[in-house]
Amino acid sequence: MKIICGKSSQYLGNRLAKITGKEIVEVEYKKFPDGEQYIKVGGDDELNDEFILIQSLVTDSDIVHLLLLLDALKESKIDLIIPYMGYARQDRKFEIGEPISIRAIATSISDKVERVTTVDVHSSEVSKYFKCEFQNVTAFREIASQVDTDNSIVIAPDEGAKGYAKEFADESDLDYDFLVKKRYSGTDIDIKPKNVDVEGRNIIIVDDIVSTGGTVSEAISFLK
Ligand code: R5P
Repeated sequence: MKIICGKSSQYLGNRLAKITGKEIVEVEYKKFPDGEQYIKVGGDDELNDEFILIQSLVTDSDIVHLLLLLDALKESKIDLIIPYMGYARQDRKFEIGEPISIRAIATSISDKVERVTTVDVHSSEVSKYFKCEFQNVTAFREIASQVDTDNSIVIAPDEGAKGYAKEFADESDLDYDFLVKKRYSGTDIDIKPKNVDVEGRNIIIVDDIVSTGGTVSEAISFLK
């Protein structure tokens, strides 16, 4: 099994290759003058092998890049790793007329790969939209083992992040709690306390995504 690093996961893919001792297959990529992407995988060998493909989906361009890679590799067996799974927050219809964005992405990927692995994906709801094997792994325990946790409490800035706070807290044998967040728009949010008593404690805030930073910023202001 060889490794292919998508454009957005070069560093991680190279680390993975180093740790596992697996060979990397190079990808040539460029942009046409109108902005369209071009890719070519490997040299002139046939691509009917087994590959670990690693590509985070941070931008829309990353999604197109992944679709091109999957098409180039369509004779192969692909174990796809998506460290950052974009569009996972729209995992249901909140209002009539909206798509389930993660379903659209999952549908375009599922029949082209054997398995998808994500890292701390936004919610467990995501798994049901993938029609291939799906697994999510967590980095929070590893992160917890690297942090000074003396006199600390772990706080999730909203209930959705409670599971991540628990992973972190369990690893370090700490208490954890969450705040109650109400979102009015992409940038307008309000945070209220749950059962939190944080006076005199060091606080470790744990969340899956920092996008505008509004959630973390509001949480910090409230906790202060
Ligand atoms: C939302 O449910 C997520 O878990 C994050 O809390 C959110 O996406 C963070 O976004 P922002 O940094 O824009 O507040």
